[in-house]
Amino acid sequence: MRLTSFRTRVLVLAIAFSIAMVAGVLITTYVVVHDGMLATARSETERMSSLAVREVADSAAKATEDAAARGLSGRQASDDALAAFLRSLPGMFGITGFAEGRVAVWDGTGALRFKSDDRAVVRDDGGRMLALTGGRVVESRLDASAELAGLFGRPGLGTFVAHAPIRVPDGDTWVLDVVYLPVRETASIEAIRPPMMSLSLVAMLIVVFVMQGMMGWVLRLVDDLRQAADAVDAGNLEMRLPEEGGHEIGELARSLNNLIDRLRRRADAQTRFVADASHELATPVAGIRGYINILRGWGADDPAVRDEAIEAIDRESRRMARLTSQLLSMIRSEGNVEFHPVRHDLNATVRQVLVEAATRYAGKRIVFEGPPEGPLMLTNDPDRIEEFLAILVDNAGKYTSEGGTVSVRTRRSRDSIVVDVSDTGPGIPPADLPSIFNRFYRSDASRSKDTGGFGLGLAIAKSIVETCSGQISVSSEIGKGTTFTVTLPRSVS
Ligand SMILES: Nc1ncnc2c1ncn2[C@@H]1O[C@H](COP(=O)(O)OP(=O)(O)OP(=O)(O)O)[C@@H](O)[C@H]1O
Ligand SMILES: [Mg+2]
Repeated sequence: MRLTSFRTRVLVLAIAFSIAMVAGVLITTYVVVHDGMLATARSETERMSSLAVREVADSAAKATEDAAARGLSGRQASDDALAAFLRSLPGMFGITGFAEGRVAVWDGTGALRFKSDDRAVVRDDGGRMLALTGGRVVESRLDASAELAGLFGRPGLGTFVAHAPIRVPDGDTWVLDVVYLPVRETASIEAIRPPMMSLSLVAMLIVVFVMQGMMGWVLRLVDDLRQAADAVDAGNLEMRLPEEGGHEIGELARSLNNLIDRLRRRADAQTRFVADASHELATPVAGIRGYINILRGWGADDPAVRDEAIEAIDRESRRMARLTSQLLSMIRSEGNVEFHPVRHDLNATVRQVLVEAATRYAGKRIVFEGPPEGPLMLTNDPDRIEEFLAILVDNAGKYTSEGGTVSVRTRRSRDSIVVDVSDTGPGIPPADLPSIFNRFYRSDASRSKDTGGFGLGLAIAKSIVETCSGQISVSSEIGKGTTFTVTLPRSVS
């Protein structure tokens, strides 16, 4: 078990937590019971002391009456009464409700005049003096040990004493000590200790086991995720994590599954892209090699064959050059191309693109219409805007037949600027519309006609539009024409 592992840390935490919790409950329970027992012992002492004071007062009165009845008077009567009172003391405390009580009687000079047994004699001269001078009952608790000591050993509740001033037959004030030993209370506290301790231990073990169980469950889920991450790292993108449960780890699994899906789609797209690009390059290379073989064999001697071969090699190599430059601009459009937004006139850029296209398609007598005069300012990268406009206008020119019209309109719309590139070409079949922005996608109609493209233009345009924080969409009607709509924010930073 590693010390730094999550499980060990949680185990240590669980033990610390359960000890703190159990100790808290244990101490609170103990204190409540202990204080309850103290209160019981105090009230018991009070009860016995008032009982004893009454008994002593009765006995003193009876001794005085007896002396008077025998016709004694003065000093003799009080001596006799006092002697009778002292004699009566030992028999007095067998009364009911006085089982645990012990009694001692001290005279005004502090001398011990009577004790029911040795434990009735306590060393608390201060308390006795206070009772004597104050003329009231003084309660003391002697030899008590620290409150929490009882948690680990015998609880020392101490000895409870009530010092009560009493009047004796000769007229003096003495002190009656009622001593109470809290044997029952101590036994009660001791009795609850073993069940309390074992309950605490059980509670502690339960907390530790429950936390470990929970941890084990969570760690198993995390381990599943780790294995999946390792599998993805090793290139296995078919992996799917168990998404069960509405808990946080289930949600994490769902997010990771989405991530794996996206990685897989991207990897698939990349594989397809490399395959398509190699295929597109292989065709002209095969053509060039074919014609070179012809030239090497017999073609070089025949001027007609030689010219045809040179012409074909030139055409194919130009096609390759175009493809490689398109692939490069595609990679550039997806990579971290530098993006320099400046405030510029969109209409000026549009007109420039239209002029270039008009020169390229001069032979097709196409009418190129631009936006009306006047600037339309926006903050974006004019080079990127020119790139995607050139692709859209080039397509429009390429697919529109002779005498058609290509128009570019610009307008403001709320927070954005909208550019429409329309043509009166053949339109795009609805079935092709969802795919035309994919790399190397060409509709069957374009494939059969030799318009010479690779199906990369729109994919590049879409990626550049996104770099400019814009969106591109298309609407088309067969036989009527096509409109590409680009929406750009008025300003990007
Ligand atoms: N204005 C348009 N009118 C009709 N069809 C269009 C138009 N623009 C695009 N398409 C269709 O969409 C397909 C994809 O266009 P894209 O520009 O990506 O490729 P391409 O023009 O065929 O080749 P490349 O642009 O790579 O030279 C085209 O093959 C064509 O079928
Ligand atoms: Mg194109």
